[in-house]
Amino acid sequence: MKTAVYPGSFDPITLGHLNIIKRTARIFDKVYVCVMKNSDKNPLFTREERVELIQRIVKHLDNVEVETADGLLVEYAKSKGARVVVKGLRAVSDFDWEFQMALANRKIDPAIDTLFMAASEKYTFLSSTVVKEMAKYNADLRDFVPREIIDDIVKKMESKR
Ligand code: PNS
Repeated sequence: MKTAVYPGSFDPITLGHLNIIKRTARIFDKVYVCVMKNSDKNPLFTREERVELIQRIVKHLDNVEVETADGLLVEYAKSKGARVVVKGLRAVSDFDWEFQMALANRKIDPAIDTLFMAASEKYTFLSSTVVKEMAKYNADLRDFVPREIIDDIVKKMESKR
C-alpha cells in the first residue's frame, strides 16, 4: 500500500490545502493529513479544532485520515508506514525553506522522501495567513476556504476581538 503524509499547521485549512489533499489522495492509496506544531507560528485555532475542521471537509474522501502529532514529522511518517511526505509549493519563495526542511528531514531519516506538488495556479496567492487577515476585516472568505468552515473562522475571530 502506498501511503503519504501531508503535514502542516493548517491554521485554518484553505482551498489550496484541500486541492493538494485531493490530488494526493488520487495518487496514493492512503493519505494521512497531520496537523503539527510549527514552532515559528502562534496559531489561532487549537490543534484539536484544526483537526475537526479538516475532518469535516475531507469526510467524503475514503482514503484520507486526519490526525495530530507531536514530535518530528519523519517519526510520524515512519509510524504510519509512509515513505513519502507531500508538500505544496506555491511559488519560488516557498522553495528555499521547504527544500531546507526536506534536506533536514532526509538527514534524520533517509528512508523518507519529500515530494513537492505544484499548487494549482488558482491558489498561488492563498495562505492561512491571508485568510486570517481577510477574516479580521470581515472580507468574503468564499474564494479562500471551504464554505463549511467559514462560520467557524468568523466566530473565532469575533472571540479574539
Ligand atoms: O503549514 P506549515 O506551518 O508550513 O507546516 C510546517 C510543519 C508543521 C510541517 C513543520 O513545522 C514540521 O514538520 N513540524 C514538525 C517538527 C519537525 O519535524 N520539524 C522538521 C525537522 S527540522
